[in-house]
Amino acid sequence: MNLVVVSNRVSRASANEPMTGGLAAALLPVVEKSGAIWVGSSGRVRDGAQKEPFAEIEALGAGALAMLDLPAAHYGGYYEGFANSALWPALHSRTDLIRTCQDDYRSYREVNSFFARALLRFRKPDTAFWIQDYHFLALGAELRALGVTHPLGFFLHTPWPTRDIFGGVPHHRELVEAMLAYDLIGFQTEGDRDNFLSYVDGELSLDTTGGVVMSRYGASRCAVFPIGIDPAKFATHAAKAASHPDVSRLRRSLNGEKLAIGVDRVDYSKGLVNRIEAFDRMLELQPQLKRTVSLLQIATLSRGTIEAYGDLQNQLARLVSDVNGRHGEVDWTPIRYLNKGFSQTVLAGLYRTAQVGVVTPLHDGMNLVAKEYVAAQNPVDPGVLVLSKYAGAANELDTALLVNPHDIDGMARTIATALSMPLLERRMRWEAMMAKLRAGTIQDWFADFVDALGQAHVANDKLPVETLPVVESPVVWPVRSLGAEVSSRFH
Ligand code: F6P
Repeated sequence: MNLVVVSNRVSRASANEPMTGGLAAALLPVVEKSGAIWVGSSGRVRDGAQKEPFAEIEALGAGALAMLDLPAAHYGGYYEGFANSALWPALHSRTDLIRTCQDDYRSYREVNSFFARALLRFRKPDTAFWIQDYHFLALGAELRALGVTHPLGFFLHTPWPTRDIFGGVPHHRELVEAMLAYDLIGFQTEGDRDNFLSYVDGELSLDTTGGVVMSRYGASRCAVFPIGIDPAKFATHAAKAASHPDVSRLRRSLNGEKLAIGVDRVDYSKGLVNRIEAFDRMLELQPQLKRTVSLLQIATLSRGTIEAYGDLQNQLARLVSDVNGRHGEVDWTPIRYLNKGFSQTVLAGLYRTAQVGVVTPLHDGMNLVAKEYVAAQNPVDPGVLVLSKYAGAANELDTALLVNPHDIDGMARTIATALSMPLLERRMRWEAMMAKLRAGTIQDWFADFVDALGQAHVANDKLPVETLPVVESPVVWPVRSLGAEVSSRFH
């Protein structure tokens, strides 16, 4: 099988360069090995009507990386607009933050259709397309509309919310109908898949028996594939990084103090405000902990042109400075707050230096930082993971200290508990988590999805003729015809 993987963000960085985006960083090593073609955005835009989408292609391991310049007129509406100001807030159950308009939706569909046209040049008779994430809910339908009958898989890296919350997205029905062009739809957790199926059942009245949705496209199998990491590689990075200047400087600066670490994009889904408040609360409730522990919060800036993100950046900067101002001493700063990224190797070394990993999102598809923190620990003296029960990772890492990220006092107490946990208990919890990480690596995730995609497509081929997809008539309206008629159909 010839695999074409598609994601908005791609990565060519090595373990020694700063990484952006959990998805791109996670996919890089497996895509590199697989020989797949990885298609995504170049991060650049082009003016004017492009007859042929422009792709810069370079070798990537046994395969290739193809980076597309996206249409200038639609990039903002697609990325900052519909993807990140309508879908992202809804997928993370923050419908109050949805800010979008008809033009954004049009741009989102235009970019999906642009990618579909660009993908045709990579199509061979035995090609399977594997599309990643919420940027491309409608890409499968656009491919089918172009006559593509190849296996089409989709994996959602974010959560899928309850039916009423997803119903807050303008055009939610058209989008989910379009998703049914995929043969296989993968989710991080059972909860996400169940939410999706109950939307399809309740909103579209389609049969979902056995997790298979029957639509005019045929069958779409909905299944769970929790994404993993390469724990052995992370452990090697962590051991190697001990001598890295950033890591040794950090250790020296601690003067025997303990360290808690958080590593996140600045995003409202990550629960950063609550986490800082919990650390503050812990120092208030247990003042004897002052000067014995600090929090290193690495917070890479993200999507800064979107108002909600700009507001959060300002709020966090004020909050950190307030906490440091109230609790700090001439020779002790409670929170070390850094708005910059680090390479995977250095991150692994920083994780290993910290006695506590604090991963407390309000909602998260999986959260690979939680898995990376665990894999980076020293087996003879491991740290403790404090993990939100709303991170997908909590399903597997159930021997972490699970917290409710809305309960500030509870989180404060739990971080203090983690700091004083005896070695035996730390080891038992850590070993149980490592066993889970080893049982579900990123390599397993990749192979399982690709296998299941092949099977789902074969099963679809066997359907009686009358239930086969009607590819000539796409289930959604062609983007170019969007206009007044569609504006009136905002759900
Ligand atoms: O699904 C989450 C995701 O796509 C991850 O790749 C990453 O955590 C984040 O969103 C990246 O966002 P962006 O590409 O907008 O920086």
